[in-house]
Amino acid sequence: MSFGWHRIWKDQFVSSLNPGLTADASAPLQRILDVAGGTGDVAFRMLRQAHVVNQNPDTKVVISDINSAMLAVGRQRAQSLLPASQQAALSFLEADATNFCCPEGNALVDSSSIDLYTVAFGIRNFTDIPAALREAYRVLRPGGIFACLEFSKIASADKNPAAAIFDAAYKRWSFSAIPMIGQLVAGDRDSYQYLVESIERFPNQEEFRDMIVDAGFVVGGHGYENLTGGIAAIHRGMKPIDA
Ligand SMILES: C[S@@+](CC[C@H](N)C(=O)[O-])C[C@H]1O[C@@H](n2cnc3c(N)ncnc32)[C@H](O)[C@@H]1O
Repeated sequence: MSFGWHRIWKDQFVSSLNPGLTADASAPLQRILDVAGGTGDVAFRMLRQAHVVNQNPDTKVVISDINSAMLAVGRQRAQSLLPASQQAALSFLEADATNFCCPEGNALVDSSSIDLYTVAFGIRNFTDIPAALREAYRVLRPGGIFACLEFSKIASADKNPAAAIFDAAYKRWSFSAIPMIGQLVAGDRDSYQYLVESIERFPNQEEFRDMIVDAGFVVGGHGYENLTGGIAAIHRGMKPIDA
């Protein structure tokens, strides 16, 4: 549906985070939690960037998802796509990102234990986004980074006549064509109808940036980077060093 753009966005997301490159060369361990990681698309890219491009085999990635079937596919894909060294640096966690605590109250992910928290095309689906942001803040160490890749909107600050035309054309395309193509290709109109409606419901770039700030993160500049005219956006926040 994205004409392959999602792959380019994921590549850009990962290269902008540049996992594996640590400021302190004497402490190369980097612990990454890829939330709503699904079948591993983003996690595999991060492992490659860290281990191969940045030559840092001490980078570990946990793929976390609420759906055990997605994680099972992720495990299979890891076995067939990743070299043994990267497989050894990867683990899987079935958990709800809005609450990483198991019923007994023991945290599935310890407080201040993560250097980089990523979530790609997942947070839009969470029932309680502020709760997920609070959990992200809890599990990140001071100085740790929250990074989100998500479908977005042409935010009001970016509105100009050309952008408004693009926005209108994109909305028209997404609401009429995407559910129809979903029906034709996958025999599933409802899921694709949900997709476009969930994108429309999700806050715009400034609103989402403000939610990230409300959770306690500090952001640099605008706090986000638009991709393909705002169809998607990368948001980033840092847990304050003195938190
Ligand atoms: C569209 S997939 C994105 C997968 C992957 N991040 C990617 O970009 O390819 C959305 C994922 O969010 C997961 N998800 C939805 N609600 C969740 C929650 N509350 N906690 C954790 N994962 C959740 C779904 O199971 C699904 O795997």
